[in-house]
Amino acid sequence: MKSKKTTLRPNLILLFCAAVFLITTGSMLLIGSIFVLLIHMGFFIRPRPFFLFLAIAVSSILISTLLARLIGEKIFAPIKELNHATKQIADGNFRVSIKEEGTVAEVREMAHNFNRMAEELRRTEIIHNDFARNVSHEFKTPLSSIEGYATLLQSPGLSEEKRLEYASRIIAGTKRLTTMTGNILMLSRLENQQTGIERSAFSLDEQLRQIVLLYEDEWNRKELCLELDLPAVTYVGNEELLFQIWQNLFGNAVKFSNPGGSVFLQLLPEEKQITVLLRDTGIGIAEKDLNRIFEKFYQGEQSRNTPGNGLGLALAKQIVELHGGSITASSSLQEGTEFTVILPVPAEAEPSS
Ligand SMILES: Nc1ncnc2c1ncn2[C@@H]1O[C@H](COP(=O)(O)OP(=O)(O)OP(=O)(O)O)[C@@H](O)[C@H]1O
Ligand SMILES: [Mg+2]
Repeated sequence: MKSKKTTLRPNLILLFCAAVFLITTGSMLLIGSIFVLLIHMGFFIRPRPFFLFLAIAVSSILISTLLARLIGEKIFAPIKELNHATKQIADGNFRVSIKEEGTVAEVREMAHNFNRMAEELRRTEIIHNDFARNVSHEFKTPLSSIEGYATLLQSPGLSEEKRLEYASRIIAGTKRLTTMTGNILMLSRLENQQTGIERSAFSLDEQLRQIVLLYEDEWNRKELCLELDLPAVTYVGNEELLFQIWQNLFGNAVKFSNPGGSVFLQLLPEEKQITVLLRDTGIGIAEKDLNRIFEKFYQGEQSRNTPGNGLGLALAKQIVELHGGSITASSSLQEGTEFTVILPVPAEAEPSS
């Protein structure tokens, strides 16, 4: 950035000085020659040097002003265009672009950078619009379900059984909304995280066991076969945030498993990194969905009817990256999915086993 500034100024100033010098000397020479010619042709008989000098000076100033204006307009035309386009951006119109041409390299580069900036603003605008559309779409379903069951609750002569059923559906809808707003808030907080995360030492294998217990009812109901390989590991990271990752990954593995399937969870501590591997024999992910599952609100085709908003993996990715790690997925439709999370061991901490 700095080096650009230092090359831009001298080049423009040099060009400007050269233009002024050429225009002034050129017009003086031209006017001078015209006067000499006129004297030779006898138009002036013995003119006084003072008047001759004055006439040449005044005519030169007039001509050089005219020429400078014409040349200046040509040189500064791209800057005028840029000024106009900048005003449009300031008014919120990001669909502007300017011509990337002109004699001065720096002006061309400035036009190119301006176009890149406008394109980036357009892209951000689209992302914002998509986000707002997704949020309102995800809110609509639970809200209309809450409204519907609340209306039914008002029906006269409702049996106790129906009353309880409608009330529990309202509670489920409310929980869905609470989880979603919590996830959206956390995502936006993490995306705007300027400072590093808070870290502390905690038992990672214990945390993973807690997650497995949290979903005990679900995997028992589906009669899933669980295989755990969790050697003792102390990790220095953000315990609360990392909990969110495992909760979503394990929750997904159970949610997208068919009854009688199996889930394998493994912890692999190494000197420089810790790998968490989660494999299931569930419905799998189609190839076209695989590279989009980490996007906000993205849900694979097979899973549109399962509860969720497609935020869990976006959150997981954000959290892993805040720890300097990576998360990847591989999958085969109807065969199963494997997620691999790699967390680097912070320089001052070594895994203890
Ligand atoms: N273990 C898995 N098996 C099959 N598909 C999966 C698995 N994990 C994720 N997916 C696919 O990736 C999509 C995105 O997952 P993600 O966890 O972000 O969203 P979700 O579980 O649908 O909703 P949320 O996490 O917000 O409750 C899922 O909708 C599903 O299509
Ligand atoms: Mg999920």
